[in-house]
Amino acid sequence: MGTAAIVLAAGAGTRMKSKKPKVAHEVLGKPLVSWVLDAAKQAGVEQMVAVVGHMREQVIPLVEADAQVVVQAEQRGTAHAVLVCAESFSGFDGSLVVLSGDCPLITAETISALVRTREENDAAVVVLTMQPENPFGYGRIIRDETGQVARIVEQKDAKPEEAAVTECNSGFYCFDAKALFEALGRVGSDNAQGEFYLTDVLAICREAGRAVLALPAADAGECLGVNSRAQLAEATKVMQRRINARHMAAGVTMIDPDLVWIGPDVAIEQDVELLPNVMLMGATSIGEDSVVGPNTRLTDTRVGCGCVIDETVAVEAVIEDGATCGPRAYLRPGAHLCERAKAGTHVEIKKSVVGKGSKVPHLSYIGDTTIGEGVNIGAGSITCNYDGKNKHKTVIGDGAFVGSDTMMVAPVTIGARSVIGAGSVITRDVSEGALGLGRARQTEIEGWADSRD
Ligand code: UD1
Ligand code: CA
Repeated sequence: MGTAAIVLAAGAGTRMKSKKPKVAHEVLGKPLVSWVLDAAKQAGVEQMVAVVGHMREQVIPLVEADAQVVVQAEQRGTAHAVLVCAESFSGFDGSLVVLSGDCPLITAETISALVRTREENDAAVVVLTMQPENPFGYGRIIRDETGQVARIVEQKDAKPEEAAVTECNSGFYCFDAKALFEALGRVGSDNAQGEFYLTDVLAICREAGRAVLALPAADAGECLGVNSRAQLAEATKVMQRRINARHMAAGVTMIDPDLVWIGPDVAIEQDVELLPNVMLMGATSIGEDSVVGPNTRLTDTRVGCGCVIDETVAVEAVIEDGATCGPRAYLRPGAHLCERAKAGTHVEIKKSVVGKGSKVPHLSYIGDTTIGEGVNIGAGSITCNYDGKNKHKTVIGDGAFVGSDTMMVAPVTIGARSVIGAGSVITRDVSEGALGLGRARQTEIEGWADSRD
């Protein structure tokens, strides 16, 4: 009958002290709830429902591509949150996984293990349990004299001997969908918080004679819930280590993996070297033998093989094989360095192609420009692409040599193999092979210094 999942994401997350709903906060550039949805998808879950409530206008855009959205207008407890999804599962009698949208470290392997354990034992429910260092606040797993799970008691309802139990509810479950919705009808709210507890379903199923099992988590770290900024940092640290370990195992060098942050969708080839303080985010990719960093942030940027990227910020840029960047280069969207091209020190490039082997080595701004092959742009040269109202294009032909401190006032075309004298302000097109000069002639007054007194 397949596997379905409910992701709970209606809570307020007051301890985050934020204008943003908790599940929209990000770990390595990806919202908490998206981590959970992706883990479920990877585990082969076919149908997903996301329960939203608080600040839902900010949560819905994050989930609607992957999950059906169900609104829980008022948060009356975890059992109530699942119950509002009942309609979505009428007629479904497979495995139904319940996940918390604020637990981003859960893995596909663990979700699959929950499903497998339930199906192999025809259990009504399998709950993932853990032994946290400090169990305070979690529901406790109460077992009977034979060691079977009898029920779960919430912290606020626990008697001292129950509170002394160290095995805790992680908040992840796999249910027999039919048994779940039958039991939910019988969950009450006669407890310390006056809420409908999903955890009460376990005792109800057991009384109905169904198997209720606990699966101890292989790694308690997977169950970390994010309720505060400190826990957000903790989750980020765990995810950073996981991702970096995967890349190192695949042949990537990191001098200090604690100082490298890589998003989940970044692709890195073998023998890449990542130096300290590097952030690679979004759909970034790095080709073989490239060296990146130190102090570099690349977002949605494609880097080829054998590139050297030093102290660079790049967003939506393309850097082809053998190109070099920095130190202190800023490549904005649409910057494209072709093979062996260079964007050097204090160079900003936007929406421009720098042709094969062309160089922009020092202190330049290049915008809305097409630079051909083998071009040299002298230090301090700038394309004046903006007249205060509109942006205009500059075209620089193959083999052109632009002298230092040249202002190219767009729209303007500088012909192939032309030479521009240093300090020029170029306002008209320069023909192929010509010398273009646009500067005041130097004059000299002999003996000036002596004549002044
Ligand atoms: C819950 C469990 C507890 C477990 C802990 C693990 C219950 C009664 N208790 O406690 O046994 O140890 O998780 O972290 O289930 N939510 C809704 N709608 C609601 C209430 C909650 O969507 O009406 C969502 C929350 O946003 C959150 C999740 O469900 O993502 C868990 O709810 P929360 O109130 O945090 O439960 P805990 O008290 O942490
Ligand atoms: Ca919680």
